[in-house]
Amino acid sequence: MKHQPIGIFDSGLGGLTVVKAIQKELPQERLVYFGDTARIPYGTKSPDTIIRYSRQIIRFLLSREKVKAVVVACNTSSAWALDAMRKEFKVPILGVIEPGAYAAVEVTRNGRIGVIGTEGTIYSGAYLKEIHRLMPKAKVISKPCPLFVPLVEEGKLTGFVAEAVVVEYLKPLLKEKIDTLLLGCTHYPLLKKTIQKVSGKKVKIVDSADETARTLHRNLEAYGVELSGHGSGKYYVSDLSRKFKENAQRFLGRHINRVEKILIEKY
Ligand code: DGL
Repeated sequence: MKHQPIGIFDSGLGGLTVVKAIQKELPQERLVYFGDTARIPYGTKSPDTIIRYSRQIIRFLLSREKVKAVVVACNTSSAWALDAMRKEFKVPILGVIEPGAYAAVEVTRNGRIGVIGTEGTIYSGAYLKEIHRLMPKAKVISKPCPLFVPLVEEGKLTGFVAEAVVVEYLKPLLKEKIDTLLLGCTHYPLLKKTIQKVSGKKVKIVDSADETARTLHRNLEAYGVELSGHGSGKYYVSDLSRKFKENAQRFLGRHINRVEKILIEKY
């Protein structure tokens, strides 16, 4: 068991932000990543479709790589598919919603928490539910920010356009005097600088990647899964576009040399 890798998946390459955090927390671990680049975005799709896609990816990770645990790095999949997947598969499955909510509740002082994510994630109410479970009196103000993903994919992370979009989406949350803003989407950490500039110093920005890595560390021990001892990464995608290298570099902070394209519908 201990030599088997941990599988991580996302709707695209954004989940590499979670890979980066896990590599830092568990440098000795073997990681296998799957990015569903052919079918991104998940954020606008229906729950049925998200569940079907997530199932195919977990089947692939289990049959091809015999993963010992799965991390659902995608917020939208974590919101809609996590419960169903935990019922269907025996392998431990960790999503990003619980760690993200935990991190936000730890940080807030006034109990007023802003949550932003894709339409799917926000309308699922998953973050709201989890934050209220941990802090029943919290005031949660949520908002989908559908233009953030294309902004990040285009590399528009700072500057006039990024700032105008961030102002537009965050205005109603800032008016509610939030002191914590939870970035509930794989792509949003890349906009952190602009989001912080617009929100001001008093608002603490929290993303789930680091807390997910810490939770994974704790849970692996709880599940009795030993660490593998030789860190390495393997990368799969469902489409290898012209922009792959540029985008992967943006999310992971370094180049990925070897990547394999998979026909995920087969699984
Ligand atoms: N990975 C998705 C998430 O974290 C964002 C991109 C998408 O819409 O698929 O919700």
